[in-house]
Amino acid sequence: MAKKILVIHGPNLDLLGQREPNIYGRVTLSQINDSLKSLARKKKVTLTIKQSNHEGQIVDLIGKAKSKYDGILINPAAYTHTSVAIRDAIAASGILTIEVHLSNIYSREEFRQKSLISPVAKGTILGFGAKSYTLGLEALIDLI
Ligand code: DQA
Repeated sequence: MAKKILVIHGPNLDLLGQREPNIYGRVTLSQINDSLKSLARKKKVTLTIKQSNHEGQIVDLIGKAKSKYDGILINPAAYTHTSVAIRDAIAASGILTIEVHLSNIYSREEFRQKSLISPVAKGTILGFGAKSYTLGLEALIDLI
């Protein structure tokens, strides 16, 4: 059976394209999702894609993912730096998770230079703009 992957976009990523384009580029979330879908088709995996601006909703999504998904690709956005709850949900799920970021968080403001998610992710891909997502999905598919 085809492997199943849950893609989660965190807060404000629905604004990509218009949001601080000097940092995040001009690519929209739907363009990112289209390239993920086309890679998924090529690799014969099934994707479910969600975006949420709400921490608890993201925790619920991860909590319900257990035994339904083989992997999670997540850009936790601002929650990367604050959310013990999302980190704990990933750890509790036991699902292989890859963290991605468009920007290089380590070259930005000090408050972004810590990820609470990285220690529970299998790996993190960052700094390649929209390409971070396709690189992350490829890595995840290879691992599951
Ligand atoms: C981000 C980096 C975060 O610091 C920021 O809050 C985001 C996007 C990125 O993809 O570069 O919203 O996760």
